[in-house]
Amino acid sequence: MPWGENVETVELPVTGGEFAVAGDRAPRARRSPHQLERSHESALSALSAVSSYLDSDEDLPSFFGRLSATIAVQTRARRAAFWRLGARGTLGLQPAAYGFADESPVHNIRLPLGARGEGVIELLVFEDQLALLKGSAPELDAMWRNAGLNDVKNSIAVPWRAGERRIGAVAVYDSPHGFTAHDLWVLRLFGMAAGLLWQYKESEDELSHTAARLEEAMAARRHLLNNIAAGGDEARRRFASALHDDSLQLLTAAELQLERCRADSNGSHQGPQLDQVRHTLRKVEDSLRRLLTNVSPEPLQLPGDLREAISERLESLRIRAGIEPHIDISVPADVPPAIQAIILKNIAEALNNVEKHARATKLMVAVEAVDGGVRVAVSDDGTGFVVAESVRMPGHIGLVAMRERAQLAGGWCRIESEPGTGTRISFWVPMSL
Ligand SMILES: Nc1ncnc2c1ncn2[C@@H]1O[C@H](COP(=O)(O)OP(=O)(O)O)[C@@H](O)[C@H]1O
Ligand SMILES: [Mg+2]
Repeated sequence: MPWGENVETVELPVTGGEFAVAGDRAPRARRSPHQLERSHESALSALSAVSSYLDSDEDLPSFFGRLSATIAVQTRARRAAFWRLGARGTLGLQPAAYGFADESPVHNIRLPLGARGEGVIELLVFEDQLALLKGSAPELDAMWRNAGLNDVKNSIAVPWRAGERRIGAVAVYDSPHGFTAHDLWVLRLFGMAAGLLWQYKESEDELSHTAARLEEAMAARRHLLNNIAAGGDEARRRFASALHDDSLQLLTAAELQLERCRADSNGSHQGPQLDQVRHTLRKVEDSLRRLLTNVSPEPLQLPGDLREAISERLESLRIRAGIEPHIDISVPADVPPAIQAIILKNIAEALNNVEKHARATKLMVAVEAVDGGVRVAVSDDGTGFVVAESVRMPGHIGLVAMRERAQLAGGWCRIESEPGTGTRISFWVPMSL
């Protein structure tokens, strides 16, 4: 038998929901002003109880405790509880139910879906089809008693839901004079309001989870970027110190031994040959020292040095390749070191390419602060090249590395060129990592 037996003379203010069958069987009566007022008051109390959570820092269990108390008052029940549908299809008690003693068996009750044969939970949670008879829902009462709540006098329950989503059920127990259709209506209102709140809470949790993930990803990116900014330096440092502390010292020792041999063999026929060996060793040493200067890591530019570092590179290009650069550099004061390193590496690569490949006569370098970052453009009037081919040339990774560095920093890099039209490399990197 559906909800609606034993109803007061209420015309129910909610549409939808099968419990509105009251009118199908019993003749509806006009609601008195007093009843209307009661309905409004209940609706208001449901909405304000739920929305109070939104502007407080209250934790969820204590909020549900408070909400259960309000529901009990509004439905004139002695006890009220939210039952939550768990992942394994069981209803479990939401913490802080109202009116139950700490030692009540209610706290240990798990109600599996469908396992009891009666299908009461399905009827309740998914169909909202329990019957109200003489102030109670007999099927529900029987279920509570079976589960160990022997002292339940009467009870009603409705779905706890958000739209089509079923979160569980909300139940009230022990009304001194039995529950009415109005109580049921109030309960349903609370069930829906609490459902919306639950959904809100879940989205909020999801949002903060996503924000945390995003922050982790940003931190990982910053870490990666710092590694890239220092990229290769560590390997070069190790190579340089091995070269210096090992190979060059052994070589010096060999030269000293040779000096002694030379002294011992004074006047012998081996003299010229030993001179020859000494000469070769000197050449080896010279070439190793040159290598050492080339592979020693360049010191990372300190903030403020960027402009100077760029100018130095342009000056050496002018001396070596005879290209007179036009420069327009205005670097913001507080570029972080890792970003400075990226800017310098990209400029150095672009200038190397001009020197190596372009056969240019004109060179233009512009650096400016734009959109919270630094934009750099290096243009030459040289031979130009087919971009799509050159970025795929095996073993030639300068252009690709430029683009990757800029993108990893959260910026972009554009390579514009065609044979005969010169080349323009531009990139932008944000000031913050
Ligand atoms: N400014 C330029 N002018 C002419 N050709 C260039 C320029 N920059 C790059 N290129 C062409 O693109 C190719 C790839 O450049 P890059 O990736 O830096 O590798 P690499 O410099 O080691 O050859 C070069 O070999 C060259 O053919
Ligand atoms: Mg290159």
